[in-house]
Amino acid sequence: MSHHFLDVAGLCFAYPDGTEALNGVSFRLEHGESVGLVGANGAGKSTMLLALAGLVLPSGGTVNVGGTILARNTVGEIRKRMGFVFQDPEDQLFMPTVFDDVAFGPLNQGLSVPEVSSRVRESLEGVGAAHLSERPTYRLSGGEKRAVAIATVLSMLPDILVMDEPSSGLDPKGRRLLIQLLKKFTHTRLVATHDLDLVMEACSRTIVLHEGKVAADGASREIFENAALLERCHLEPPLCMQGKC
Ligand SMILES: Nc1ncnc2c1ncn2[C@@H]1O[C@H](COP(=O)(O)OP(=O)(O)OP(=O)(O)O)[C@@H](O)[C@H]1O
Ligand SMILES: [Mg+2]
Repeated sequence: MSHHFLDVAGLCFAYPDGTEALNGVSFRLEHGESVGLVGANGAGKSTMLLALAGLVLPSGGTVNVGGTILARNTVGEIRKRMGFVFQDPEDQLFMPTVFDDVAFGPLNQGLSVPEVSSRVRESLEGVGAAHLSERPTYRLSGGEKRAVAIATVLSMLPDILVMDEPSSGLDPKGRRLLIQLLKKFTHTRLVATHDLDLVMEACSRTIVLHEGKVAADGASREIFENAALLERCHLEPPLCMQGKC
């Protein structure tokens, strides 16, 4: 199953105003790994994930998804295999009802109507949002939108799951479901988050971004035990390692 690897090499990107968001980012995720992407505000996490989705075009470096190099002519194929949950759920939800939004991906995959219905039901149940199925998406609360955005991605059964702040806005029960879901998902996972306790529970490996560069990459516990590294990258240990939970 090595085709679910994700290899990022020397990725560079500057926004049009000159802000250098990525300064030569390199890492490789093997199939089945669950990896946290952490870093202070502005460290480059969201930009990194936008680059993986082909939504920003790097000025240098490569993204290799299971042997396919990300480029204009491959981005469509790659997006079919990678499921992206973006930082703002508003970027993800565009259909009139929750059901339609979660059904959109499976319908495009050519599944039959009963298959689509069962995918939608399972995905919404997975995030505790089955009761929202018939609701208009634009009338949901922030946390409800987040849960539905996650379901839209799960319903496509992606090979690689990429999430940006997935626990933000979720209530404690929703966050717990998300952690269970991340643990259950057996393929490759990359989760950008400030929820370091979620990383400790659901990600065995952590990559620390600092000012657009990889400052550290290793076992999550070792990363969060490295006080000097955390200080330098404006991070704090997870609450569970501060004896606060
Ligand atoms: N549209 C934009 N135009 C110019 N600069 C931007 C834009 N979006 C982000 N940046 C800058 O790029 C850098 C990386 O931002 P990014 O959003 O990737 O950080 P982040 O690690 O996701 O932060 P956060 O934890 O706050 O979500 C920051 O310096 C930010 O100010
Ligand atoms: Mg971000």
